[in-house]
Amino acid sequence: MTAATLVLPARGFAAAPATLTAGPVEAAILGEGEGLTRMLGFNGTTPGPELRARQGETLSLTFQNRMGGGSAVHWHGIRIDNAMDGVPDLTQPMVEDGADFAYSFRLPDAGTYWYHSHARSWEQVEQGLYGPLIVEETTPPAVDHDVTVMIDDWRLQEDGTLVGGFGNMHDMAHAGRLGNFARAIPSVSEVRRGDRLRLRLINAATARVFDLRVSGIRGMIVALDGMPLAAPQEAGDLTLAPAQRADLLVDVTGPVVFDLMGPPEPYELGRIETAGENTAPISAPIAALPAPDVARPKDQPDHALVMRLQGGAMGGRHGGEDIWALNDHSGMEGDPFGRFARGETARITLVNQTAFPHGMHLHGHHFHEVGADGTLGPLRDTTLVQPHETRDIVAVLDNPGKWLIHCHMLEHQAAGMKTWIEVA
Ligand code: C2O
Ligand code: CU
Repeated sequence: MTAATLVLPARGFAAAPATLTAGPVEAAILGEGEGLTRMLGFNGTTPGPELRARQGETLSLTFQNRMGGGSAVHWHGIRIDNAMDGVPDLTQPMVEDGADFAYSFRLPDAGTYWYHSHARSWEQVEQGLYGPLIVEETTPPAVDHDVTVMIDDWRLQEDGTLVGGFGNMHDMAHAGRLGNFARAIPSVSEVRRGDRLRLRLINAATARVFDLRVSGIRGMIVALDGMPLAAPQEAGDLTLAPAQRADLLVDVTGPVVFDLMGPPEPYELGRIETAGENTAPISAPIAALPAPDVARPKDQPDHALVMRLQGGAMGGRHGGEDIWALNDHSGMEGDPFGRFARGETARITLVNQTAFPHGMHLHGHHFHEVGADGTLGPLRDTTLVQPHETRDIVAVLDNPGKWLIHCHMLEHQAAGMKTWIEVA
């Protein structure tokens, strides 16, 4: 007898496919009965399939690029092995059309993450190359539904065709490519009154900051950018910059409605209808998620750095590929913004000298937003800095490699608002 050839699926990966294939798709963005939109997607859909795994597991899949141009996949927010970070020319070669690339990496943190193209991202993400990446706690909080809510906007013609002109000078120099149609798309359409939900909100837009109101619920915001909050905040209104996420644990009191707050007036992005009543609701109090295993920064940072955010329309720079700059420097040429020994604490003062908001993202790490009073705020991977605002962030740089820091308004990134750090 030969050895058994029984093949068992790796535990926990029932919902994660072995391949992620990028290619053209048609999406019903405008809704049923309306024109379809030609986009790009993964495994035939945009957003791509929801990848789900358990904290501590290794996610392995083959990226197959069949989309017609070079690409690579970035696993946004994951404290990942540098070689798996998906940044062409910094952490890996470009995956050319027709080629494959094997990604395999450990998931150190539970939380709500997402994946997206990191090549010509202002175009490829806008065309739909992204999807949710959910890392479950070993013991997740009890809920009736675990709901992912993808939020995006698109610039569409009336028949559903995406308006072209990606990366045009006007979008690049202003707020980025803002859509004329926006949606919040929950992964379930109906719940019962009294159900407990986990809502995982993900802003996948290239440029739009969503000021959101979630109604029909009572509960708490328990995590931001995947990272549990030490002190959950009351749920209701929240702001999500591009790439930011929020986890809410809530009880349903009525139809769950996601509104984009005005001006001029609230605009309904999506909803979950209610039918019936949960007669045995979960009664355990909504509590903080288990604390993340992230190193605590030193009180006295090893490095105190300033990053001035510059440029844009009215910003006095000359245009082209260097419309935007960080400390008078556009793009990736030259030295990194900083070099660090592994484990050092860096405080970076972000000074927004421009007339536009920027969502600054650091790869491979989470950082604390520092409050005006100097206290350590929530851990994030993307921080929104409003026009003429100054914000300190503090990070323990303990993940070796070359890591981008860039604005997640993807047209700003394309037009120069990016740099990198090196952690030895
Ligand atoms: Cu989500 Cu460098 O990006
Ligand atoms: Cu920006």
